[in-house]
Amino acid sequence: MTRVLQRSIAHSYPVAVRGEGIHIWDATGKQYIDASGGAAVSCLGHGHRDVLAAMHAQLDKLAYAHTSFFTTQVAEELGEDLVAHGPPGTSHVYFVSGGSEAIEAALKMARQYFVETGEPERRHFIGRKQSYHGNTLGALAVGGNEWRRKQFAPLLIETHHVSACFEYRGKRADETPRQYGERLAQELEAKIEELGPKTVIAFIAETVGGATAGAIAPVEGYFKRVRETCDRHGILLILDEVMCGMGRTGTLHACEQEGITPDLMAIAKGLGGGFAPIGAVLVGHRIFEAFAKGSGLFQHGHTYLGHPLACAGALAVQQVIRRDHLLANVRRQGEHLTRRLGERFGNHHHVGDVRGRGLFQAIELVADRASKATFDPKLKLHARIKQEAMARGLMVYPMGGTIDGVNGDHVLLAPPFIVDEAAVDTIIERLGDAVDAAIASVPSAS
Ligand SMILES: Cc1ncc(COP(=O)(O)O)c(C=O)c1O
Repeated sequence: MTRVLQRSIAHSYPVAVRGEGIHIWDATGKQYIDASGGAAVSCLGHGHRDVLAAMHAQLDKLAYAHTSFFTTQVAEELGEDLVAHGPPGTSHVYFVSGGSEAIEAALKMARQYFVETGEPERRHFIGRKQSYHGNTLGALAVGGNEWRRKQFAPLLIETHHVSACFEYRGKRADETPRQYGERLAQELEAKIEELGPKTVIAFIAETVGGATAGAIAPVEGYFKRVRETCDRHGILLILDEVMCGMGRTGTLHACEQEGITPDLMAIAKGLGGGFAPIGAVLVGHRIFEAFAKGSGLFQHGHTYLGHPLACAGALAVQQVIRRDHLLANVRRQGEHLTRRLGERFGNHHHVGDVRGRGLFQAIELVADRASKATFDPKLKLHARIKQEAMARGLMVYPMGGTIDGVNGDHVLLAPPFIVDEAAVDTIIERLGDAVDAAIASVPSAS
């Protein structure tokens, strides 16, 4: 019996005992390929010696110093590093311990910015349906996943949501991708007008939608129109790159491929690669200047801000990614992954869409390809796929409720940046078998 309140109480989890490279081993000695980096976290895989050495060295010097007393050399170095490689206009970095904390901090920074600059009447956040920004109350409120929000709805701050940029489900047959993006930008504009442009603080979006919808990349031009709409109304743009950022899509920041820069950006998972819990907000110049010239502080804080051990791990992860040219490998293996997914699932009766960027890709399962009808959510196809994959020594990240929080199933792949072609081939082989076995176990599927 476990005394740990596990994610699912009825489920019995294997005990993970060791990790090396792209593999994790459980206590029975069974080996798993980590083809999802957990939840798009382990960008360098497991047990990377250079990262561990940097963390050991930091631990020998100093494990912890509270940020109201001290800064540390390692936090300063990581701050320099992230600003130097951040989106243009990045001024400072605010360190936290994970993705939800980064989103909470970004929301409060955005609100404080308007208090500092004399527009305290701004109070609304606009997010997108089917988005995920974390499970703390503020992050849950701006998120658009109905299932996750439902029972906590009475506790959530008032937020507003517009459609996700979800080409497979949202683009009409008579539209080009660009026209679809334009329609979405107009929907945002209409929402801003409805609320009153002077009452809106920020629009928040995942650059590439991750966990809840499965690697939905924006159509060309969408984010440029979003940026332009926000600018016209003096509204801030917060990008959530907690999952899709830090190299996962083939560029350090996913927004580089959109040709835009946010005012605030949340990063986390790939920042520390799972070696330590760390997240951060990349703060744009105008936000920092408003704080510096105004109250002189950001009114926030947590005990573990800028934890030295976490900073040492994250700094080493980022240095290894550059030293070993791993973003080039993300692009190269991403292309191979796209090709292999296409070969295995392109004509599959029950795969409606293969999508994503770099090493951040997904397949969406359908009961019928022509109508895009989903499987009955009661069948929990996603859970069956996860079980079949684990049985075959493969970790992938399947999720249900792909379309609206209830209907739809997808499988997200986010292998470590160190993956090679042979490993990608094995991942596809095991995933194909797992998907087929899961579908065969569903009563009515043919
Ligand atoms: C896009 C996005 N934002 C925020 C979060 C929350 O991050 P954390 O689980 O580290 O709090 C996640 C986690 O999956 C995420 O995918």
